Amino acid sequence: MAAKSKILVLGGTGYIRKFIVKASAEAGHPTFALVRESTLSHPEKSKLIESFKTSGVTLLYGDLTDHESLVKAIKQVDVVISTLGGQQIDDQVKLIAAVKEAGNIKRFLPSEFGLDVERHNAVEPVTSFLEKKVKIRRAIEAEGIPYTYICSNAFAGYFLPTLGQQNVTAPPRDKVVILGDGNVKAVYVKEEDIGTYTIKAVDDPRTLNKTLYVRPPANVLTFNELVSLWENKIKSTLEKVYIPEDQLLKYIQESPFPANLMLALGHSMYVKGDCTNYEIDPSFGVEASNLYPEVKYTTVDNYLNAFV
Ligand SMILES: NC(=O)c1ccc[n+]([C@@H]2O[C@H](COP(=O)([O-])OP(=O)(O)OC[C@H]3O[C@@H](n4cnc5c(N)ncnc54)[C@H](OP(=O)(O)O)[C@@H]3O)[C@@H](O)[C@H]2O)c1
Repeated sequence: MAAKSKILVLGGTGYIRKFIVKASAEAGHPTFALVRESTLSHPEKSKLIESFKTSGVTLLYGDLTDHESLVKAIKQVDVVISTLGGQQIDDQVKLIAAVKEAGNIKRFLPSEFGLDVERHNAVEPVTSFLEKKVKIRRAIEAEGIPYTYICSNAFAGYFLPTLGQQNVTAPPRDKVVILGDGNVKAVYVKEEDIGTYTIKAVDDPRTLNKTLYVRPPANVLTFNELVSLWENKIKSTLEKVYIPEDQLLKYIQESPFPANLMLALGHSMYVKGDCTNYEIDPSFGVEASNLYPEVKYTTVDNYLNAFV
């Protein structure tokens, strides 16, 4: 059996990065994490860095703005996964230049982890954000770097603990606001499962130069279905306030950043159905739960039990 690829994960101590690093180390891949020297002195972040060390992860010091440090780190591995945050999407051109120069990378996964940035009906300010990721895709393809794009849809931890409600810290128990008519299907994936599927894809020839869509069937739900699951758990019926699309578009235009971004994401997911409104054609993509049926992913139903 071929040896498992050595994987380098970039993205400091970012939100999704820890799940990817953990999944990589647990799957037995020699795992490397690029960290900035400045991050080490940060009290919270340094704790996470220590936990990487204890799970056998090799720390490499570097910075997106330091080309030599990137090339040096990349030369030690086979696969590069970027989990850089929204502010650093454009800067991934620096990473692409370093991958190109190193010349040894078998697979590059840019920071995606959301909707398919080329198949959506989003409005501003989401459109401009997704366009940055499209530019990164084109730059990777132009350099002939082998890639996989991970479209993992909604992070469960961002949406389910509040049932997508704004300015609350727990799921609603009396009233719920529903964008659109609530009959459009969205997809929620637990972060640990995103990590597992991502790591399975890196050495898989079936995902080479393809998009991996994470759409586990039990987690493809309309908002009305999601509310009904929750109502059954708390044995109570919520008051439902539906926001029609024209009103939502007005709210988006009138709201300051970042509220407008969150509302526009809601519009894309819950009104336009951008998680599910296209077929995954084998010419461009594959679906994770089909490819890896052995993964026992967390269902939304199970996930919500923690909040009852
Ligand atoms: N589907 C969803 O629901 C969803 C939700 C949120 C995000 N996302 C997507 O997931 C991806 C990752 O987002 P995230 O929220 O996990 O990221 P994040 O928490 O914002 O983390 C980004 C990390 O980038 C690192 N960084 C910044 N400047 C750097 C530099 N010069 N050199 C090296 N590292 C640098 C920082 O590292 P330090 O630790 O060193 O400061 C930071 O921890 C993005 O593509 C985002 O759009 C998806």
